[in-house]
Amino acid sequence: MSLMQWVEEKYSTNVDLCDNQHKELFDRVNALNDAVVNRDRVDIGNRLDNLVDFVVKHFETEERLMEERGYSGLERHRQEHDLLVKTCTDIQDKFHAGEMDIEEATMTYIKNWLDHHIPIIDKPYGPALGN
Ligand code: FEO
Repeated sequence: MSLMQWVEEKYSTNVDLCDNQHKELFDRVNALNDAVVNRDRVDIGNRLDNLVDFVVKHFETEERLMEERGYSGLERHRQEHDLLVKTCTDIQDKFHAGEMDIEEATMTYIKNWLDHHIPIIDKPYGPALGN
């Protein structure tokens, strides 16, 4: 069973571009999780890089839309994004340096972050950024 499953009522922001990117994030988290379950270090590294690249792209997209619409929650939102990017890049660096492995606890951290951030922090921008 996939680690992250899209539930429209729970995760939809009603902004198509963001919802589609969130779905892509879920796919990449699930792909990484599969590699973790299979304990394939090369695959884990590739999928980790693939996920972090898309996280950065997604955050840039949201922040650009917020800037364009003059969304008042931009600065607080950006702080949340910056914190996760720093955590992810630290994990990436340590993983590639052979100083840590990606295990179930890491995947739980990522899942919990998304499970909080999308419904609680992202969803409120829906009316301001709507299609
Ligand atoms: Fe969809 Fe604010 O990340």
